[in-house]
Amino acid sequence: MNFAVIGHPISHSLSPVMHHANFRSLGLDYSYLALDIHPNHFHHIRDIMTAKEMDGFNVTIPFKTAIMDYLDEVDADALKMGAVNTVKITGDKWTGYNTDASGFIESLPLHDYRHVLLIGAGGASRAIAQGFAARGAEVTVANRSPERLDDWPFDVNKITLQDIERYADRTDLLVNTTPVGMTGFKDEVLYDFSSVHPDAVVADIIYTPSKTPFLALADSLGLTTINGLGMFVNQGAQSFKIWTGLEADRAAMTECVKNHL
Ligand code: ATR
Repeated sequence: MNFAVIGHPISHSLSPVMHHANFRSLGLDYSYLALDIHPNHFHHIRDIMTAKEMDGFNVTIPFKTAIMDYLDEVDADALKMGAVNTVKITGDKWTGYNTDASGFIESLPLHDYRHVLLIGAGGASRAIAQGFAARGAEVTVANRSPERLDDWPFDVNKITLQDIERYADRTDLLVNTTPVGMTGFKDEVLYDFSSVHPDAVVADIIYTPSKTPFLALADSLGLTTINGLGMFVNQGAQSFKIWTGLEADRAAMTECVKNHL
């Protein structure tokens, strides 16, 4: 079977090596490519994937929303998130899914959080917010630019970064979904979450570095911290299951990604 990840740029993606580690471990002679698609050529996506005889693919920045126009069917959760990261191809039929939020939730020590506070309001935040809202949690989204929250497609509490200090004490899960703290990104954490409940879990979707300044701060407060590595592995493992019906070897995938960081 043939798989790929499409994006632009895509050369730094660890998805191909991670998926190959899984194929190797399971003894499968499958392929997984990184395909850099220029946005000007994106409207040819169905022809490109048909010519390459793809059975499924992952979608990353900047195409997670744009791909939805090319699908025959979209899973209900992915539709609400407004983003697809996994496409399954069966004959001529393309079906879209989103494994980012479920992959993230699977990476947490508990899967049942009641008050979730997300920092950032981009695509990743929207997917995770929908994932928790669908599980009955109360979701609050804090963003630098309040206007970004104006057209949010489902019900969440909307606050500013300055409000985090007041909201933190009623939060059992605090998540950074912004690029702040990522290797090569200059901006710093400019809000205070030290009043967060001592039993709260603090998570970052970033995995390079493995400990962002945000997580280091949470560590210094004695809180449980989780980085984005588990989310990355789990979203890939869940995509693999959608395509093949098989359970991936998550340990082999995790080991491989750690070795390439
Ligand atoms: P993604 O799709 O990966 O979530 P995105 O759509 O570019 O990425 O969204 C990035 C998020 O990070 C946004 O919420 C952005 O805030 P703004 O809406 O105010 O731009 C947030 N963000 C980016 N840089 C930031 C910074 N230096 N401080 C705080 N928030 C930041």
